[in-house]
Amino acid sequence: MISIIGAGKVGSAAAFNILRYRISDVVLIDIFESLAKGEALDMMQTAPAIEFDGKIKGTSDFSEMEGSELVIVTAGEARKPGMTRIDLMNKNAKIVKSIVKEIVQYAPNCKLMMVTNPVDIMTYIAYKESGFERNRVFGMGNILDTLRFRSYIALELNVSREDVRALVMGEHGDSMTPLVGYASVSGIPITCLLDKKQIEKTVNFTISSGSDVIKLKGSTTHAPSAVIAIMADAILRGRNRVMGVSTYLEGEYGASDIAIGVPVILGKNGVERILELELIPETRKRFENSVSIVKEAIKKLSEKG
Ligand code: NAI
Repeated sequence: MISIIGAGKVGSAAAFNILRYRISDVVLIDIFESLAKGEALDMMQTAPAIEFDGKIKGTSDFSEMEGSELVIVTAGEARKPGMTRIDLMNKNAKIVKSIVKEIVQYAPNCKLMMVTNPVDIMTYIAYKESGFERNRVFGMGNILDTLRFRSYIALELNVSREDVRALVMGEHGDSMTPLVGYASVSGIPITCLLDKKQIEKTVNFTISSGSDVIKLKGSTTHAPSAVIAIMADAILRGRNRVMGVSTYLEGEYGASDIAIGVPVILGKNGVERILELELIPETRKRFENSVSIVKEAIKKLSEKG
């Protein structure tokens, strides 16, 4: 069973994807009880059309998450136009701390996926507050950035998005690090197919893509909810998928006491292994800058208590 805390736009869309792809039953929890109940009822009524039998329950009772294999936290405020993910930090830190207490009480053996922004900071808080092993606490961010990177490479080349494979690491924010050297189209490095200017264009689009959607429609929903389902599938079915997730580092990539996006193998136990790739100096520098930005935010958070 999967529990999703936060039945807002991202949480309810993620619940629907998890059900429609028959990954698991879902408990949808929100402090706004009628929203959680209403979303659950709406999805249950959709089931005959899409032909899924998974159970969905909406509630404000945190004890309903008991027995969850995976808990996904999408509760908290969303970024408003002009607001950075870091601006959101202090508001959402309080919410996340209170939710983690409930998770520790009712689902002490779960894997814990953070979605609430700024996701790297919220993953750090969840790891510290839960006391869980680090493989069980991770954040969704880089896989979404990767989806966007793949989309823009495909667009630039006019090829199927399915054939484009890529990775993004670092902060899920403006300092993210798209790994150009590891991006390919059916195994062909993109550096063989695109010139420097075109690559730069895809990288810049990737970095601004979240804000671009927010400027237009206020929040991002479809892409995040789709990748939450991909991650849930990797965990519940033990598929050992390779993707970028925010995870607590203990010396990997020269960083420690921080949660930030790195490539991992995601499976039954959560982060099964962190993959340490060789980075060219330019990419390493960008990643190190990302690390210092997230570290600075963590410091500000500790100063506030
Ligand atoms: P939303 O405002 O639609 O939903 C948030 C929900 O959280 C609301 O229904 C609210 O009642 C609930 N909530 C607040 N405090 C709660 C608590 N203590 N317990 C239970 N529920 C609580 O926001 P939306 O668009 O769904 O976004 C949710 C979060 O996900 C935001 O922080 C947003 O920035 C983040 N996000 C992260 C992405 C990522 O890539 N990591 C992508 C998209 C959104």
